[in-house]
Amino acid sequence: MRIGVPKEIKNREHRVAVTPEGVALLVGAGHKVVVESRAGIDSAFTDQAYRKAGAFVTDSADEIWRCELVIKVKEPLPDEYRHFRKGVILFTYLHLAAVPELARELMASGVCAIGYETVQLESGRLPLLAPMSQVAGKVAAQLGVQYLQKENGSPFQGTGRLLGGMGSLNAARVVILGAGNVGINAAETVACLGAEVLLLEANETRIHTLQQKTHKNIQVHHYTHKNLIGLLPTCDLLIGAALIPGKHAPMLLQRSDIALMKAGSVFVDVAIDQGGMSETSRPTSYEDPVYLEEGVIHCCLPNLPAAVPQTSTAALTHATLPYVRKIADMGLDAAVASDPSLKLGINIRDGNIVHEGVRSALAGQV
Ligand SMILES: NC(=O)c1ccc[n+]([C@@H]2O[C@H](COP(=O)([O-])OP(=O)(O)OC[C@H]3O[C@@H](n4cnc5c(N)ncnc54)[C@H](O)[C@@H]3O)[C@@H](O)[C@H]2O)c1
Repeated sequence: MRIGVPKEIKNREHRVAVTPEGVALLVGAGHKVVVESRAGIDSAFTDQAYRKAGAFVTDSADEIWRCELVIKVKEPLPDEYRHFRKGVILFTYLHLAAVPELARELMASGVCAIGYETVQLESGRLPLLAPMSQVAGKVAAQLGVQYLQKENGSPFQGTGRLLGGMGSLNAARVVILGAGNVGINAAETVACLGAEVLLLEANETRIHTLQQKTHKNIQVHHYTHKNLIGLLPTCDLLIGAALIPGKHAPMLLQRSDIALMKAGSVFVDVAIDQGGMSETSRPTSYEDPVYLEEGVIHCCLPNLPAAVPQTSTAALTHATLPYVRKIADMGLDAAVASDPSLKLGINIRDGNIVHEGVRSALAGQV
């Protein structure tokens, strides 16, 4: 199969869909891989490294999109819609619940769109979201720590509180909504710095499992709105990390809830890629990463793993490559028939939304 790898065009998206090592495996299996020039440069992979791995490197995005299978990192942007055509299998993060316009374009063009984030194992695990979520959780924690400082590189001053406290001064309090991959990784990162962490989770089994084994500074509680608003006035850093696969992120925060937080406290809404968890959330970019609402610094970057592309590209390729191989080796129909988790990845096919969660999230909008 011919596999195309475009250069990402999203603002400061530094990742690429496959490493040269991954290319070598695909080429070794008899596939042709076409990589856009400089696609890997921010992840420290030169065009030469891709050529050496057996890829054909081109300056032409058109040539990439003429391939049968196009693998990407982020959802296509409007400048990329012109490439859509029937016969293309697009394999990337899509997060369609947050971009109905993209869903409409994919449906109208006949592209078969497979979302990394909805590939789901029988256990419920999301194997292609998990590695980026683990990275995003750690980066969200690091950004939270940065913006809590008075001098943090933004126009807004944080509370100026050191996460781990000092001497008799208490540690800062971090509240995290959702104890999945993002939530746990963020929790462990800030707990290591000495913060007091409260994870609010909706799934009883998950709460029970985590209560047996988490770090001593981390408590896991059942999410209720009452629990949440009780914590907000003393919360220094709030992290949004809840997910219902395929759907809009649970909207757990009204503006009046955010207003309960201290001036200069920080809200990192990691779930912004699924539409965000607060009435006050809107996507930001690396050029302008934060804004102020109700005195609270909001950081809503939809591509946190892009901040650490060397780590993220390697982790992403490791997770996606077995699925890319399967589609390329067997063809989509046979691949899907052999693997129910991949079948759940298909969001749009032949002009129809086939993923149930995505369909209900976009009802009335497409
Ligand atoms: N901004 C970024 O760069 C970036 C990167 C990776 C992931 N994400 C996003 O982060 C979010 C979390 O991803 P994840 O991989 O950790 O998901 P996950 O499935 O591992 O965990 C989500 C958790 O949220 C819990 N949850 C659902 N509804 C809840 C509620 N009402 N209250 C409390 N908990 C609730 C679930 O039970 C689950 O444990 C997703 O929206 C994902 O798309 C964003």
